[in-house]
Amino acid sequence: MQFIDLRSDTVTLPTPAMREAMASSEVGDDVLGEDPTINRLEAMAAARMGKEAGLYVASGTMGNLVSLLTHCGRGEEIIVGSKAHVFLFEAGSVSALGSIHSRQVANQADGTLKLDDIEAAIRSDNDHFPRSRVICLENTHNRCGGACLTADYMRQVRALADRYGLRIHLDGARVFNAAVALGVDVRALTRHADSVSFCLSKGLSAPVGSLVCGSAEFIHEARRARKVVGGGMRQAGVIAAAGIVALEEMVDRLADDHANARRLAAGMADIPGIVLDPSRVQSNIIIFGLEEGALAPSTFCERLAGHGVKMSPVEGRQVRAVTHHGVEAEHIEQALTAIQRVMAH
Ligand SMILES: Cc1ncc(COP(=O)(O)O)c(C=O)c1O
Repeated sequence: MQFIDLRSDTVTLPTPAMREAMASSEVGDDVLGEDPTINRLEAMAAARMGKEAGLYVASGTMGNLVSLLTHCGRGEEIIVGSKAHVFLFEAGSVSALGSIHSRQVANQADGTLKLDDIEAAIRSDNDHFPRSRVICLENTHNRCGGACLTADYMRQVRALADRYGLRIHLDGARVFNAAVALGVDVRALTRHADSVSFCLSKGLSAPVGSLVCGSAEFIHEARRARKVVGGGMRQAGVIAAAGIVALEEMVDRLADDHANARRLAAGMADIPGIVLDPSRVQSNIIIFGLEEGALAPSTFCERLAGHGVKMSPVEGRQVRAVTHHGVEAEHIEQALTAIQRVMAH
């Protein structure tokens, strides 16, 4: 059966142009700084993010870890959202490998952290306390249903961080989705962050890799941290070549994914038993509820798969659907028919 796979945008496959670029990529030893394809991708990424330098890493998780290992020493603290990917889904890597303490601040439904809550979480200088070092933000916010943080919000967090001498790390796994959804240059969203990581292997469809961007000095240190976690990958230009195509060809089309998500959300909101406010859907992620008394999320997803559509149960009575390259407008109509059938039984 050919599935309409809405579990995640990580299921996207490399495009024919990516495979061609990979086959003909010029490569060298990247740990020695000699892979021309990686050097080009890192320079392109830095320019796109408005930063001095970039670093190619294996994954979004590695990008966040390397960034936070670079910002923080043992026992220092990050301030991070209670629904942040860094906090929930990265195997506790910052504490497991970096001895970094994390302080959670409640994520609001729009993906933000309240400025007052951040301020209240900042430690004073006292031997009893860890030292606050970094405020971590996520844009778009995965567990907040692809919510977009605005440039104005980023500016306000920057002003707060500056008052306390803190740094900002942006988990921008889907920051291009945020830029496209908000209709701004991505640099408007990244300029207030000291470091930003973004993924090539989600909506941008490359098979592997993420970039960390920041000042030249920061990236110099981050390169060391990447080595510490075993992330020096030698002739990785073979995979980085697909990342160049991703940046050149796959950013603007994210608007199609957002239109498909809006259409799917509008259709689902009309189906009895589904709890969903379509006006909250800003990018390519939809998180919706199933009413008490309706199917359990795991049963819903199993039955839906029986009709050729895959989604993922998340916590409580929630389910997540993500649109991406390879999911076309007609698939959305087919998915809606399948959901109607599952909910009717
Ligand atoms: C917001 C966010 N950050 C980081 C990551 C981690 O990326 P990776 O799966 O490449 O490690 C993800 C993955 O889904 C994510 O959604």
